[in-house]
Amino acid sequence: MKHKILLSVSFLLVTVISCSKLEVTDTVADEAPVLPDEPYDYNTREIPKDAFSSNIFDDFIFPNGDTNSITNRRLEITPWGATLGRVLFYDKKLSLNNTVSCGTCHHQDKAFADGQRFSKGFEGRITNRNSMAIANPIVMNNLFWDSRSKSIHDLSLRPVQNHIEMGMEDISRLESKLAAYDYYKPLFQKAFGSEEVNAERISKALSMFVASITTTRSRFDEVRKTGNTRSLTNLEKMGMDLFFSDRTKCSTCHSGFNFSAPDGPFDAYGGGGMSGSGDLGGAANIGLDLVYKDNGRGNGRFKIPSLRNIALTAPYMHDGRFKTLEEVIDHYSHGIKPHTHLDPKFTDGKGNVVHPNYTSLEKQALVAFLKTLTDQEMIRDPKYSNPFKK
Ligand code: HEC
Ligand code: HEC
Repeated sequence: MKHKILLSVSFLLVTVISCSKLEVTDTVADEAPVLPDEPYDYNTREIPKDAFSSNIFDDFIFPNGDTNSITNRRLEITPWGATLGRVLFYDKKLSLNNTVSCGTCHHQDKAFADGQRFSKGFEGRITNRNSMAIANPIVMNNLFWDSRSKSIHDLSLRPVQNHIEMGMEDISRLESKLAAYDYYKPLFQKAFGSEEVNAERISKALSMFVASITTTRSRFDEVRKTGNTRSLTNLEKMGMDLFFSDRTKCSTCHSGFNFSAPDGPFDAYGGGGMSGSGDLGGAANIGLDLVYKDNGRGNGRFKIPSLRNIALTAPYMHDGRFKTLEEVIDHYSHGIKPHTHLDPKFTDGKGNVVHPNYTSLEKQALVAFLKTLTDQEMIRDPKYSNPFKK
């Protein structure tokens, strides 16, 4: 990867939540964010080059120019752009009544998940899915539980309704609202060369910040970098071997550097391989239910999420149904249901579910291994922290 990371990104902040006539109140007062004189370094160079080996790297990071407007959407993460994005991410003024920010549902100390089964958004409305952690989104080719966005740049193309829940359906109103706060003008100046506050800039800056969130310093990363497992306990090592084994098949789905959907644009299995479809969106049905209330990407398939920082992001699954990693492992051990669209990796080839029935030692080992994916530096890094006093 070159030093500069270009992203074709921008967030559309418009939500389609029909809106009440709530008054704009100023409950968070005019408190300005506390920022360093010189911006933090927001480069993503610690992500190894091969993490980007998919087509996504070419298409979205260094667009080849043959796709309609993507070239124009290229975005380079700049230190001041990401700094402005950080302020926007935590600023409750982005919601209509100053009650909700991105940071309300994405907490740094929880690797940007929020610890809730479902989250409360604007006017107390509850999200219908579990808030997601943010782990190296710059390398992801599928975002959201139903993989509805192909890349972080794509968030701008699809409304983020049912997600942001911030009551910001009128973006022009947001432009003038933010422009009225003194601290924004110099930040827009530094990020974009003039004080103008507009929707495109707001989106770009937020995208830069989100794209800059990198997590590369877990204990497992030491093993990855050095190829040496000496720093792991015997139990962790056993869990690692299991994770990468045929017995569990965990790593065939939670794969590669990011422990997430295998490479390939919108195909978790590289061209219709095991699951027989060329458009799985990096999603799979893991047999949580026989009948799904929420069908995800269709047929009960959900995004194969990254397992980085997984120990911090409970509760688990798209609906937060499991409180602990032990419960998750119990599911894979003996809880898988024979849904028609269950991923074939969990069957014997004739459609019968195989229950591996892990021993209690194996379960402990898997959990111990998953805990080595926690990045203590990322969750404390001031460059991702809330710049507003609480
Ligand atoms: C009310 C809670 C809430 C707020 C506010 C919120 N999010 Fe989310 N976020 C969620 C939920 C829930 C999901 C999963 C939604 C889905 O899959 O449909 C999610 C998913 C995401 C994802 C996808 C992550 C992945 O790995 O696929 C990103 C990126 C994201 N949010 C960024 C943001 C940004 C930026 C903001 C502010 C502009 C924001 N969120 C505001 C709850 C929230
Ligand atoms: C066929 C692909 C596949 C295999 C194999 C697989 N997973 Fe998953 N995993 C998924 C999908 C898809 C989800 C999300 C499902 C949902 O939310 O409905 C998931 C979710 C998880 C979660 C919860 C993530 C979160 O953010 O809530 C954990 C933890 C997890 N898997 C660990 C494992 C372990 C450990 C193994 C091996 C024992 C494994 N997985 C095997 C596809 C797979």
